[in-house]
Amino acid sequence: MSRRPLVTVDGPAGSGKSSTAKELARRLGFRHLDSGALYRALTYALLEEGLPVDGWPELSSRELDALEIQVEPEPEGVRIRYGDRVMGPELRTAAVTENVSHLSAVPAVRRWLLQRQREAARGGGLVADGRDMGSVVFPDADLKVFLVANLEERARRRLRERAEKESPEAVEAEALRLEERDRRDRERETAPLRPAEDAVEVDTTSLDFDEQVDRILALVEDLTPS
Ligand code: CDP
Repeated sequence: MSRRPLVTVDGPAGSGKSSTAKELARRLGFRHLDSGALYRALTYALLEEGLPVDGWPELSSRELDALEIQVEPEPEGVRIRYGDRVMGPELRTAAVTENVSHLSAVPAVRRWLLQRQREAARGGGLVADGRDMGSVVFPDADLKVFLVANLEERARRRLRERAEKESPEAVEAEALRLEERDRRDRERETAPLRPAEDAVEVDTTSLDFDEQVDRILALVEDLTPS
Protein backbone atom coordinates (compact mmCIF):
# COMPACT_ATOMS: atom_id res chain seq x y z
CA MET A 1 0.00 0.00 0.00
CA SER A 2 1.53 3.33 -1.03
CA ARG A 3 0.18 5.32 1.90
CA ARG A 4 -0.49 4.21 5.43
CA PRO A 5 -4.01 2.82 5.90
CA LEU A 6 -7.05 4.54 7.28
CA VAL A 7 -9.09 2.31 9.59
CA THR A 8 -12.59 3.16 10.83
CA VAL A 9 -14.21 1.69 13.95
CA ASP A 10 -17.92 2.45 14.36
CA GLY A 11 -20.54 1.07 16.72
CA PRO A 12 -23.05 1.85 19.46
CA ALA A 13 -22.27 3.36 22.87
CA GLY A 14 -20.24 1.09 25.11
CA SER A 15 -19.18 -1.29 22.34
CA GLY A 16 -15.57 -0.38 23.11
CA LYS A 17 -14.84 1.72 20.03
CA SER A 18 -12.79 4.53 21.52
CA SER A 19 -10.60 2.48 23.83
CA THR A 20 -10.07 -0.15 21.12
CA ALA A 21 -9.30 2.44 18.44
CA LYS A 22 -6.85 4.22 20.74
CA GLU A 23 -4.93 1.05 21.57
CA LEU A 24 -5.01 -0.09 17.94
CA ALA A 25 -3.54 3.25 16.86
CA ARG A 26 -0.86 2.99 19.54
CA ARG A 27 0.17 -0.49 18.43
CA LEU A 28 0.21 0.46 14.76
CA GLY A 29 1.99 3.78 15.33
CA PHE A 30 -1.02 5.53 13.75
CA ARG A 31 -2.89 8.61 14.95
CA HIS A 32 -6.28 8.28 16.64
CA LEU A 33 -9.37 10.36 15.92
CA ASP A 34 -12.12 10.06 18.55
CA SER A 35 -14.93 11.74 16.61
CA GLY A 36 -17.33 11.44 19.55
CA ALA A 37 -15.05 13.81 21.47
CA LEU A 38 -15.71 16.49 18.82
CA TYR A 39 -19.49 16.19 19.25
CA ARG A 40 -18.94 16.19 22.99
CA ALA A 41 -16.76 19.33 22.84
CA LEU A 42 -19.44 21.26 20.96
CA THR A 43 -22.05 20.01 23.45
CA TYR A 44 -19.86 21.07 26.37
CA ALA A 45 -19.35 24.54 24.91
CA LEU A 46 -23.07 25.03 24.21
CA LEU A 47 -23.96 24.00 27.76
CA GLU A 48 -21.28 26.37 29.13
CA GLU A 49 -22.67 29.21 27.02
CA GLY A 50 -26.15 28.41 28.33
CA LEU A 51 -27.75 27.89 24.91
CA PRO A 52 -31.01 25.96 25.52
CA VAL A 53 -31.08 22.46 24.00
CA ASP A 54 -34.35 23.08 22.15
CA GLY A 55 -32.63 25.84 20.14
CA TRP A 56 -29.77 23.56 18.96
CA PRO A 57 -31.55 22.37 15.78
CA GLU A 58 -31.43 25.98 14.49
CA LEU A 59 -27.71 26.52 15.09
CA SER A 60 -25.88 28.12 12.16
CA SER A 61 -22.28 27.52 11.14
CA ARG A 62 -21.51 31.08 12.24
CA GLU A 63 -22.77 30.33 15.74
CA LEU A 64 -20.69 27.15 15.79
CA ASP A 65 -17.59 29.14 14.72
CA ALA A 66 -18.28 31.58 17.56
CA LEU A 67 -17.93 28.77 20.12
CA GLU A 68 -14.17 28.83 19.45
CA ILE A 69 -13.71 25.08 19.31
CA GLN A 70 -10.45 24.26 17.50
CA VAL A 71 -9.36 20.82 16.29
CA GLU A 72 -5.56 20.83 16.15
CA PRO A 73 -3.35 18.03 14.84
CA GLU A 74 -0.85 16.48 17.24
CA PRO A 75 1.45 13.45 16.90
CA GLU A 76 -1.00 11.02 18.50
CA GLY A 77 -4.18 12.41 17.00
CA VAL A 78 -5.94 15.68 17.59
CA ARG A 79 -6.11 18.16 20.43
CA ILE A 80 -9.48 19.82 21.04
CA ARG A 81 -9.40 23.37 22.33
CA TYR A 82 -12.28 25.43 23.69
CA GLY A 83 -11.04 29.01 23.76
CA ASP A 84 -7.64 28.62 25.39
CA ARG A 85 -8.51 25.43 27.29
CA VAL A 86 -7.51 21.96 26.08
CA MET A 87 -10.51 19.67 26.53
CA GLY A 88 -10.14 16.43 28.50
CA PRO A 89 -12.20 14.48 31.06
CA GLU A 90 -14.90 17.19 31.20
CA LEU A 91 -16.11 15.84 27.83
CA ARG A 92 -17.43 12.72 29.56
CA THR A 93 -19.57 14.28 32.28
CA ALA A 94 -23.17 13.03 32.64
CA ALA A 95 -24.56 16.38 31.37
CA VAL A 96 -22.54 16.15 28.15
CA THR A 97 -23.39 12.46 27.67
CA GLU A 98 -27.10 13.11 28.17
CA ASN A 99 -27.24 15.92 25.62
CA VAL A 100 -24.72 14.99 22.95
CA SER A 101 -27.05 12.88 20.81
CA HIS A 102 -29.44 15.86 20.47
CA LEU A 103 -26.63 17.94 19.04
CA SER A 104 -25.25 15.20 16.80
CA ALA A 105 -28.64 14.91 15.04
CA VAL A 106 -28.33 18.50 13.75
CA PRO A 107 -27.26 18.49 10.05
CA ALA A 108 -25.43 21.87 10.33
CA VAL A 109 -23.31 20.44 13.15
CA ARG A 110 -22.40 17.35 11.13
CA ARG A 111 -21.48 19.52 8.14
CA TRP A 112 -19.37 21.76 10.34
CA LEU A 113 -17.40 18.78 11.65
CA LEU A 114 -17.06 16.91 8.36
CA GLN A 115 -14.17 18.90 6.92
CA ARG A 116 -12.40 19.07 10.27
CA GLN A 117 -12.51 15.27 10.56
CA ARG A 118 -11.23 14.79 7.01
CA GLU A 119 -8.37 17.22 7.62
CA ALA A 120 -7.34 15.16 10.63
CA ALA A 121 -7.01 12.12 8.36
CA ARG A 122 -4.67 13.72 5.83
CA GLY A 123 -1.76 11.40 5.05
CA GLY A 124 -3.44 8.18 6.27
CA GLY A 125 -2.08 6.24 9.22
CA LEU A 126 -5.22 6.93 11.23
CA VAL A 127 -7.75 4.97 13.27
CA ALA A 128 -11.02 6.94 13.44
CA ASP A 129 -13.86 5.89 15.70
CA GLY A 130 -17.47 7.02 15.95
CA ARG A 131 -20.87 6.35 14.42
CA ASP A 132 -20.44 7.31 10.74
CA MET A 133 -16.70 7.09 10.14
CA GLY A 134 -17.03 4.27 7.60
CA SER A 135 -20.44 5.21 6.19
CA VAL A 136 -20.08 8.98 5.67
CA VAL A 137 -16.83 10.63 6.74
CA PHE A 138 -14.32 8.16 5.28
CA PRO A 139 -16.17 6.10 2.64
CA ASP A 140 -12.81 5.11 1.06
CA ALA A 141 -11.25 3.81 4.28
CA ASP A 142 -9.00 0.78 3.83
CA LEU A 143 -10.68 -1.17 6.61
CA LYS A 144 -14.08 -0.54 8.19
CA VAL A 145 -14.98 -2.28 11.42
CA PHE A 146 -18.40 -2.19 13.09
CA LEU A 147 -18.28 -3.25 16.74
CA VAL A 148 -21.34 -4.70 18.41
CA ALA A 149 -21.95 -6.14 21.89
CA ASN A 150 -25.10 -7.00 23.77
CA LEU A 151 -26.79 -4.22 25.70
CA GLU A 152 -26.30 -5.64 29.20
CA GLU A 153 -22.59 -6.23 28.60
CA ARG A 154 -22.20 -2.68 27.29
CA ALA A 155 -23.95 -1.30 30.39
CA ARG A 156 -21.61 -3.32 32.65
CA ARG A 157 -18.57 -1.98 30.82
CA ARG A 158 -19.74 1.59 31.27
CA LEU A 159 -20.24 1.06 35.03
CA ARG A 160 -16.79 -0.53 35.29
CA GLU A 161 -15.26 2.37 33.36
CA ARG A 162 -16.67 4.77 35.94
CA ALA A 163 -15.74 2.42 38.82
CA GLU A 164 -19.41 2.17 39.85
CA LYS A 165 -21.10 -0.87 41.45
CA GLU A 166 -22.62 -3.44 39.09
CA SER A 167 -25.89 -4.07 40.97
CA PRO A 168 -28.79 -5.37 38.84
CA GLU A 169 -30.57 -2.00 39.27
CA ALA A 170 -27.50 -0.02 38.19
CA VAL A 171 -26.99 -2.26 35.13
CA GLU A 172 -30.64 -1.84 34.17
CA ALA A 173 -30.56 1.95 34.56
CA GLU A 174 -27.36 2.25 32.52
CA ALA A 175 -28.77 -0.08 29.83
CA LEU A 176 -31.82 2.20 29.51
CA ARG A 177 -29.59 5.26 29.06
CA LEU A 178 -27.47 3.51 26.41
CA GLU A 179 -30.56 2.22 24.62
CA GLU A 180 -32.10 5.68 24.47
CA ARG A 181 -28.92 7.25 23.07
CA ASP A 182 -28.57 4.40 20.52
CA ARG A 183 -32.17 4.92 19.48
CA ARG A 184 -31.60 8.62 18.86
CA ASP A 185 -28.35 7.88 16.99
CA ARG A 186 -30.04 5.21 14.82
CA GLU A 187 -33.22 7.11 14.05
CA ARG A 188 -31.78 10.49 13.11
CA GLU A 189 -32.02 11.38 9.43
CA THR A 190 -28.48 12.61 8.89
CA ALA A 191 -25.69 10.01 9.13
CA PRO A 192 -27.59 7.55 11.35
CA LEU A 193 -25.68 4.89 13.26
CA ARG A 194 -25.41 1.91 10.90
CA PRO A 195 -22.61 -0.21 9.47
CA ALA A 196 -21.15 0.80 6.11
CA GLU A 197 -22.00 -1.79 3.46
CA ASP A 198 -18.40 -2.97 3.33
CA ALA A 199 -17.84 -3.00 7.09
CA VAL A 200 -16.67 -6.10 8.95
CA GLU A 201 -18.81 -6.73 12.03
CA VAL A 202 -16.98 -7.78 15.20
CA ASP A 203 -19.09 -8.89 18.16
CA THR A 204 -17.19 -8.07 21.34
CA THR A 205 -19.73 -9.44 23.86
CA SER A 206 -17.53 -12.33 24.88
CA LEU A 207 -14.14 -10.87 23.99
CA ASP A 208 -11.90 -9.15 26.49
CA PHE A 209 -10.14 -5.94 25.60
CA ASP A 210 -6.90 -7.52 24.33
CA GLU A 211 -8.82 -10.06 22.26
CA GLN A 212 -10.86 -7.36 20.57
CA VAL A 213 -7.77 -5.29 19.76
CA ASP A 214 -5.98 -8.42 18.43
CA ARG A 215 -8.98 -9.30 16.27
CA ILE A 216 -8.90 -5.94 14.50
CA LEU A 217 -5.12 -5.87 14.32
CA ALA A 218 -5.31 -9.17 12.42
CA LEU A 219 -7.75 -7.56 9.96
CA VAL A 220 -5.33 -4.65 9.42
CA GLU A 221 -2.48 -7.07 8.83
CA ASP A 222 -4.60 -8.88 6.22
CA LEU A 223 -4.98 -5.73 4.11
CA THR A 224 -3.59 -6.52 0.69
CA PRO A 225 -0.74 -4.27 -0.37
CA SER A 226 -1.58 -2.34 -3.54
O1 CDP B 1 -18.13 6.70 23.97
P1 CDP B 1 -19.58 6.65 23.57
O2 CDP B 1 -19.86 5.55 22.60
O3 CDP B 1 -20.51 6.69 24.71
O4 CDP B 1 -19.90 8.00 22.81
P2 CDP B 1 -18.98 8.85 21.86
O5 CDP B 1 -18.30 8.00 20.85
O6 CDP B 1 -18.15 9.77 22.69
O7 CDP B 1 -20.10 9.71 21.07
C1 CDP B 1 -20.99 10.54 21.77
C2 CDP B 1 -22.17 10.85 20.86
O8 CDP B 1 -21.71 11.63 19.74
C3 CDP B 1 -22.91 9.68 20.25
O9 CDP B 1 -23.95 9.20 21.07
C4 CDP B 1 -23.46 10.28 18.96
O10 CDP B 1 -24.67 10.95 19.19
C5 CDP B 1 -22.43 11.32 18.58
N1 CDP B 1 -21.52 10.89 17.52
C6 CDP B 1 -21.96 10.93 16.22
O11 CDP B 1 -23.11 11.26 15.98
N2 CDP B 1 -21.13 10.63 15.19
C7 CDP B 1 -19.88 10.26 15.43
N3 CDP B 1 -19.08 9.98 14.41
C8 CDP B 1 -19.39 10.18 16.76
C9 CDP B 1 -20.25 10.48 17.79
